[in-house]
Amino acid sequence: MPKTMNGALIEDFGKTVVAWQRRHGRHALPWQNTRDPYRVWLSEIMLQQTQVVTVLGYYERFLARWPRVTDLAAATLDEVLAQWAGLGYYSRARNLHACARAVAAQHGGEFPATAAGLQTLPGIGRSTAAAIAAFCFGERVAILDGNVKRVLGRVLAFDGDLASSAAEKKLWDRATELLPEHDVDRYTQGLMDLGATVCTARSPDCLLCPVQPLCRARQAGDPTRWPVKTKKLKRGRRENWWLWVENPGGHVLLQQRPATGVWAGLWTLPMFDDEAGARAALPGASPETLPRIEHALTHFDWVLHTLRVQASEGMTPGGTWVAREKLASYALPAPLKKLIEES
Ligand code: ADE
Repeated sequence: MPKTMNGALIEDFGKTVVAWQRRHGRHALPWQNTRDPYRVWLSEIMLQQTQVVTVLGYYERFLARWPRVTDLAAATLDEVLAQWAGLGYYSRARNLHACARAVAAQHGGEFPATAAGLQTLPGIGRSTAAAIAAFCFGERVAILDGNVKRVLGRVLAFDGDLASSAAEKKLWDRATELLPEHDVDRYTQGLMDLGATVCTARSPDCLLCPVQPLCRARQAGDPTRWPVKTKKLKRGRRENWWLWVENPGGHVLLQQRPATGVWAGLWTLPMFDDEAGARAALPGASPETLPRIEHALTHFDWVLHTLRVQASEGMTPGGTWVAREKLASYALPAPLKKLIEES
């Protein structure tokens, strides 16, 4: 007896996604049409929390600078962070570097050729391992990233709360049952493409969707009710003061952030918890107040004030003096890059 789903054959689901991908999916992204695990891995890590349009330039620059995984392994973490600067979620860059080193040192410079093997490496979780294994080695394994949770959550009207790991595990099982016998690479890309272009979070375009006839969320008339996730992120708010201290030679004072926490390892202007603290580091100076910056991170909104001043005797912030033309080789967070470019 063939397994059924929503009254339709499971087999039809996979075949429909594959056929749709062939006709309507994306085929010309720079990390497609290759089976090189280094390229696919690099793209998958960059795409984890970042949109395709943003990733494109970073991807090309990484490959131009480090054409092979062993080149990336030979780079310093600071070089990798500087190249990553602006992409956000910097633990990805640390893991990227650690993973390249592990592949070079423990795997002879070759990525493992199975999802199970890939998943042992830093920064490669179950879904990313499966995507690489499907794209590069044709392995028949399921992915379940945020977009795919949404697509499958809707098609199945999956009522489990994805904030719970038990429900997530069930959805993994369903995702595995749905895998087609053949063309898993194209199917995997098809699910990603559907999630990115048709079954979008807020306004799914059901009329364009190839699996609409068997989608239970569509049948229920309210596709955005799925996937179910109750845990609401509690967003906080933070406020800090930056000091932009510049010396007559055009050098700017920077400090490196600690190895853990927000912007770990990146370079910023000296930062203070309150305005009084910032001003106390500039005795006798009359700094200029720059427009405040509002920067949204996953867990909080960050308001950053900047006081700008010429360096003079008695100023206390420590740090490294960096020539303005050298700033591009430092890992600066996106809002600081923007501030410097615009000021
Ligand atoms: N997001 C994650 N992986 C992707 C891929 N291979 N193509 C496009 N978007 C993606």
